[in-house]
Amino acid sequence: THFFPTYTREDVKKHKTPHERIWVTYAGEVFDITDFVELHPGGDRIMLAAGGSLEPFWALYGVHKSDHVKEILQQYKVGVL
Ligand code: HEM
Repeated sequence: THFFPTYTREDVKKHKTPHERIWVTYAGEVFDITDFVELHPGGDRIMLAAGGSLEPFWALYGVHKSDHVKEILQQYKVGVL
């Protein structure tokens, strides 16, 4: 296993452009999704969550309630809250 650093929500907020890297949170974990943004099947809408939480958006778009989506996200984990 792997040690992940702890970040605050303020830290995450500083990462919302490709230049600063694009971070999001989900279920207490932090992800750097910069390299996934261009691959997202739902297009640019993914940027609405940049620097913050995925939960409110995934509550609206139920297509993310799958193991497949959770596996994609885990590949980009960089820390915990
Ligand atoms: C579709 C992943 C964030 C909106 C999808 C699909 C995946 C995915 C794998 C295809 C699902 C399928 O068809 O089975 C992710 C990941 C995200 C993320 C890993 C974050 C790291 C978001 C956000 C929004 C969003 C924040 C909205 C604000 C959508 C929409 C679709 C979609 C609308 C459906 C696209 C279509 O079928 O036309 N996403 N998503 N996603 N996503 Fe996301």
